[in-house]
Amino acid sequence: MRGRAIAARAIQGVRAVLFAAGLLLAASLSATAGPAERGAAVVEQWCRLCHVHVGEAQGPDMAPPFEEIVKRPGHDEAFFVRFLHEDHFPMTTYRLFEEEKRDVVAWLMSLKGR
Ligand code: HEC
Repeated sequence: MRGRAIAARAIQGVRAVLFAAGLLLAASLSATAGPAERGAAVVEQWCRLCHVHVGEAQGPDMAPPFEEIVKRPGHDEAFFVRFLHEDHFPMTTYRLFEEEKRDVVAWLMSLKGR
């Protein structure tokens, strides 16, 4: 019984350390990464379900690469800020935090120069 309790406590300790390490890593990432880099990470996580990377085949269910979208006429920063605050059909669960929206716009703007 006692051995098990000790093992459980040891596992708890390891978990706490891992959790703290994860927090530190997340904190240092967001401290060092600029808005465009953070935006790129948001896009990888939430938008790649549909939006292909440049050069990838775009099947009928897929959306165009952002590199193409940013070249569309009238697609300036103001457009993307507005776009990110509207519902994005067919992506029904479009819920980003305000700072994530800002980072995504920064990333999209960084594509324009490429
Ligand atoms: C469920 C699929 C899906 C997801 C997920 C998705 N999109 Fe889209 N997106 C589309 C489709 C479809 C279009 C329309 C294709 C077009 O405009 O050529 C589109 C178009 C766009 C456009 C261009 C709109 C215009 O009027 O030119 C932007 C900007 C955009 N998406 C941003 C995003 C961002 C940012 C994310 C992630 C936060 C995202 N999308 C996630 C499917 C998706």
